[in-house]
Amino acid sequence: MLKWDIEFSHLDAGYGAHRVLSDVSAALPAGKISVILGESGSGKSTLLRHVTGLSRPLGGTVRIGGRDIFALSPAEFRRLRRQTGVLFQDGALLGALNLAKNVALPLSEHLPLPEHLLREAALRVLAMVGLEEFAEYYPNQLSGGMRKRAGLARAIIAEPRILLCDEPTSGLDPVTAARMDELLLAMHAQYPEMTLVVVSHDLAGFRAIAEHVLVIRNGGLIFAGTPESLLGSGEPYLRQFLERRSGDAGQTLHKPMNPRVHSELAKWLAS
Ligand SMILES: Nc1ncnc2c1ncn2[C@@H]1O[C@H](COP(=O)(O)OP(=O)(O)OP(=O)(O)O)[C@@H](O)[C@H]1O
Ligand SMILES: [Mg+2]
Repeated sequence: MLKWDIEFSHLDAGYGAHRVLSDVSAALPAGKISVILGESGSGKSTLLRHVTGLSRPLGGTVRIGGRDIFALSPAEFRRLRRQTGVLFQDGALLGALNLAKNVALPLSEHLPLPEHLLREAALRVLAMVGLEEFAEYYPNQLSGGMRKRAGLARAIIAEPRILLCDEPTSGLDPVTAARMDELLLAMHAQYPEMTLVVVSHDLAGFRAIAEHVLVIRNGGLIFAGTPESLLGSGEPYLRQFLERRSGDAGQTLHKPMNPRVHSELAKWLAS
């Protein structure tokens, strides 16, 4: 199986006039786990949208396996998309379908396979994420962590060359988050050629899984390298980010509640 790396070159990205990322140049190595870190709103999901081709760059290029994905013919682009699995930030399961059917979607939408083979394929990946017994459950009958695991099962059912995971551990308790990290590592061991990209603001998680790290801030790339060199960095923002300190949060003065609202509220609470 071919390994594909992902390369951003002078990428400018945004929505209409709203520029989110400027001049990002970085490579995500093939067959490795890369973690993209940054504060909420820094543009991590936006960057992923440019790997899946959901958004077009305002400038610069995105290359996958050496090919500029926005210069491909529609047929070549569709072929590339088939090799990309995505775990969306919210799992993105369809409420009307049970887990087995949700997970089988990447196959059932495109392949003329009989029902029993689709189900077998779905049960195989559901077992990989520990959800085999929940095949008949609907998304609203599952916990957030289970939905994320099901989303992962769906993202890998077609054994893509590239797997993009948007915040696989956010909103999970530390134990469940650690299990998700273990699952990603197990996935990586099972498919060593797969290029994994994980977007996260979970610092514990990045230490557990990252082989390569990017950090984005204020619309630009401020770090690219190994987790060891990130942990050893003396750059103040990176240190602050790693130590989970918020620079000026303590100094922010919030306006007090309007006295009229305050007194009406107090009366109502006491009534
Ligand atoms: N579809 C969209 N249309 C317009 N603006 C958008 C869209 N999606 C994101 N943005 C804007 O782009 C900026 C970056 O958002 P993005 O979702 O990439 O951040 P993020 O780093 O993934 O944040 P989080 O950690 O909260 O998921 C934000 O200012 C956001 O308002
Ligand atoms: Mg996001």
